[in-house]
Amino acid sequence: MQLFLDSANVDEIKESLTWGVISGVTTNPTLLSREEGSFEPLVRKICSIMAGDPVSLEVLATTAEAMVGEAERLAALAPNVVVKIPMGVEGLKAVHCLRCREHKVPCNVTLVFSVNQAILAARAGAAYISPFVGRLDDIGWDGAALVEEITTVFRRQQIDTPIIAASIRHPQHVQRIAAAGAHIATVPFSVLKQMAAHPLTSRGIELFLADWARSHGEERL
Ligand code: G3P
Repeated sequence: MQLFLDSANVDEIKESLTWGVISGVTTNPTLLSREEGSFEPLVRKICSIMAGDPVSLEVLATTAEAMVGEAERLAALAPNVVVKIPMGVEGLKAVHCLRCREHKVPCNVTLVFSVNQAILAARAGAAYISPFVGRLDDIGWDGAALVEEITTVFRRQQIDTPIIAASIRHPQHVQRIAAAGAHIATVPFSVLKQMAAHPLTSRGIELFLADWARSHGEERL
């Protein structure tokens, strides 16, 4: 499973790249609204930092025709732009149009909350499909179970559209999604840091250093 960073914050993106664990970035209007400065310079910078790895940018338009026009403008910003299109009839029309043309624009169908939505998005030609895990949990459903159901159906139906599990709230989501066989999890930087940490790891380092200091003081190679 690949990890993408769910962030529009340049510092978080740069820091996580030094870890060598992320292969893409996803943004959305809410994440972008938290960042200073104009939209275009920021997303061009993110695309440049990601150096060819996919960066998802979401359309704001709500009709297919307007989505297609906005998608073309977003795709023109950088070669590694993937256009996020919200699920729905207008979104399906836009994805299909952007897929069937000579100059194809890769689309990430977002705000997916059911297997049927995922099937439709795949059939329309989505390059990625983003089921939201945390927002289903927020209403008392089992968000990770949706990813498990989608991956099962896609595997049985030989649908090879990559699934980006999104709306990740904690490391346990990542574990379940990985076990379910999702292709990608897009995680907030806070969750990435939680994934790397464990209290027993920190305690173990402290104990090693304390034992060494008792016997060897400050001695180092
Ligand atoms: O970017 C899409 C998704 O990850 C949003 O997550 O936390 O706003 O539900 P969240």
